[in-house]
Parts: sequence; structure tokens; C-alpha cells
Amino acid sequence: MQRLVIEGERRLSGEITVHGAKNSALPLLAACVLSRGETSLHNCPKLSDVYAACRILSRLGCKCERNGGSVTVNTDGLTHFDVPDELMREMRSSIVFLGAILGRLGKCRLSFPGGCELGPRPIDMHIAALRQMGASIREEHGTLDCDVGRGLRGAKIALSFPSVGATENIILAAATAKGQTVIHNAAREPEICDLARFLNKCGAKISGFGETTVVIDGVERLHGCEYEVCPDRIVAATYLSAAAITGGELTLLGARACDIETVIPVFEQMGCTVCLYDSKIYISARRGLKAVKTIRTMPYPGFPTDAQAVVMAALTKARGTSIIIENIFSNRFRHVDELVRMGADIKTEGKVAVVDGVKRLSGACVKACDLRGGAALVVAGLGAEGITEVGDIKYIDRGYESIETAFSSVGGIIKRV
Ligand code: EPZ
Repeated sequence: MQRLVIEGERRLSGEITVHGAKNSALPLLAACVLSRGETSLHNCPKLSDVYAACRILSRLGCKCERNGGSVTVNTDGLTHFDVPDELMREMRSSIVFLGAILGRLGKCRLSFPGGCELGPRPIDMHIAALRQMGASIREEHGTLDCDVGRGLRGAKIALSFPSVGATENIILAAATAKGQTVIHNAAREPEICDLARFLNKCGAKISGFGETTVVIDGVERLHGCEYEVCPDRIVAATYLSAAAITGGELTLLGARACDIETVIPVFEQMGCTVCLYDSKIYISARRGLKAVKTIRTMPYPGFPTDAQAVVMAALTKARGTSIIIENIFSNRFRHVDELVRMGADIKTEGKVAVVDGVKRLSGACVKACDLRGGAALVVAGLGAEGITEVGDIKYIDRGYESIETAFSSVGGIIKRV
């Protein structure tokens, strides 16, 4: 079992590149199923979740090749409509293939994605919306058997919660459905905009994305295209947290500041200096950190739930008491116990975490329980006295391209053993 060994309290400094967004690359790879011929996704991150998505594409009969930072998909050989259980279990978000496979082939069989480390991950909104568009979906023996009969048709869909995955699945199913689909209370994440822009480049007619009402006018068919995946805003927040906790200064290359407009002020409240440029972010944390009043995770453009753990790690050494309220997932404080093992003073009650800053964290043996929680342990290890060993780093590899190489390149002492 691989683990990361970190020698903390090294001030990070220098330039660090933010790689392509996992949560954009995954729906974009699913969207390739809808487009005929060849598609190339550039700035596609080298992550285990991306490889899992490519395995699903290959299983469906597509040709999927990585060359450097790009992935090329050719769907001319697309024949299968089923995603086997072992592939579904590898990556919960493979549910986003449902809308694309239905849109292209008219039927789809995949196993229920089930819960994950963050708590139950229901897909009731996905299923209700696709049924509204004419799909018949049978759930039995842990499998979803879906068929569109005479074809998907546009519908007016109001989401009770701006679910990212449900919004993506509806957009994918609606792109080539008959008629117009309107999504009310749609998710507004930058990754949704990436998906809509990609599909429009393939010939789709989608408007309003990034706002709460998205309109999709179905078209006959979609062709391939070339597209550049947007930078990963959560990886950017992770690097900012590492600069903050080590009292360092970093320039994040390729970062899109507009995607993390509710995260930047938190670092400024901590006492960091942050300068924003077109495609880079500079942060300096020369002085000690101050606690921040209250952070509430909310759907975009609110503070992103995916940044909660890594920002909490930075706050463990901030003078004063910070309050973090996790409103999106029911089990997203699993990194807290591990941070406490490192000397952090954090108490949680339901969806509230109270972080009392401590002078020093001490290196310890800790375990990643989920992707962002694992990244938070790396951030804490970089700011802790002595050696920290982080186990179960397979979770971290799902969303970070060689996190040890990234931090070593700016002065961190971290290696994979
Ligand atoms: C996406 O997950 C991201 N994953 C998550 O990132 C991210 O945390 C989340 O959006 C919120 O921003 C990908 O994009 C691959 P949701 P998703 O549907 O689509 C409830 C990471 O670390 N819900 O917006 O699954 C759900 O239980 C990952 O990169 C329903 O109740 O998130 C949750 O409480 C973790 N019924 C809330 O909505 C549904 O049908 C938000 O879920 C769907 C969702």
C-alpha cells in the first residue's frame, strides 16, 4: 500500500501549475459518447478517475487514447450500452454516463452507483428527470435498466436542489432529445459551463448555463471537436491552503480566479496577501494566520464543499476560532479525527466544525478517508513539525496529478513510498 511521507514546516515558494479539472474531464468524457467521430480533450488531467472513465468508454466500444496531456476518443465503434458493476464501483460519478448513453443509444444498463465516503449519494433527481424526458428506468437487483422507447423528448425540469450531477445528466440527455428542455434551479458550477461549451462546440444548442435556468434545444446529432478542459478550482484551493499553512508564497499558473471568488476572501481574512491575474493567482502568507468567522459550504457560487477540508487544514494553525458549516454532504468531516491526531483542536457537532487554532501541528501517521480529506492531511503534514505519513493515498490520486511532485517542485519535502 503506497503512502506519502512528508517532512513538514518547509516554507513553500515558487510557481506551481494547476492541472485540468477532474470534475470537468469526467462529464466531458461521458459527453464524447454523444458525439460521432473523433474528439480530443486537451489539458485532461492524469488521474485514476479519468482512467476509469476511459475504461468505461472502451467497454462501450469507443477508442480512447491518451497522448501527453490530451485524450482522444473515437466513438465510431460504439456498440455496448452497459457499464459493468466493477467499473461503476470504481467511480461513483460514472452515473453521468447514463444521460449520454441514453442520448446516443436509446438504452443503458448500469449498476446503482451506491454511496461513497461522503455519505449516501442518491440519484433520485437524475432518475426523476430522465423519466420526465420519457425514459423508462427499472431499478432492480442493484441495476438500473433504462430505455427511451420512442426517444427522449424535451421537458421542463425543476430541481429541488441544484445538483451538479443531475444537471449534467439532464444536459447530456437533452442535447439530442426531441424538442426543448428547460432546467430550473440548475447547478451553476464552472464544470457545468465547460460541459455546455463543449457540447455547443459539438453542435448542440444550449444557453443559460452558469445561471439557474438552462435551456437546451435538442439537435439531430453531434460531431466531434477539440476542447480544452478548464483548470481545477479545488486543486487551486488546495495549493492556496498549502501556501497559507507553511507561511510561504506561491504563484498558481493556469488558475482561473473567477472560479474561486468565494474562496479567495477566506485566505485574505486569514491574513494572506492574494493577487489575481488573468490566468494565475499569487498568494503570500508571510505573517501568521488568523481564524475566519464562519465558512458555509453552498452550491456554486457559494463556498465549494470540495474546498472545505483543505481550508480547514490551514485553519488548524490560525490564531482564534473558525466555524465551518458543511451544508452539502452528511459525512464530510472524516478528516477531522486524523487532523486531531496531528494536534489540531477541532470539535464537530452535526454539520458544524469548530476549529480552535493551535501553535503547532505534530507529524503523525494518518489515513486518507476520501479524496479531499486526504488532500487536507497532506496540507496539514506540510505545516506540521516532524514527519507525517499519509496512508490510503489511492483516494488522493483520484483527484490530484502526483501531489508529491507538485509540492516538491515548490520546496516541500514529500515523497511517495
Ligand atoms: C459533484 O458531485 C462533484 N463530483 C463533487 O466532487 C462535489 O462535491 C459535488 O458535485 C458538489 O459540488 C463530480 O463532479 C464528479 P451533487 P455530485 O449531485 O454531482 C444530493 C470531489 O471531491 N443529491 O451536486 O454527486 C447529494 O446527496 C467530488 O471532487 C440528491 O439528494 O453532487 C448531495 O447531498 C466529491 N439526489 C447534494 O445533492 C440526487 O439525485 C449535492 O450533490 C443528486 C444529489
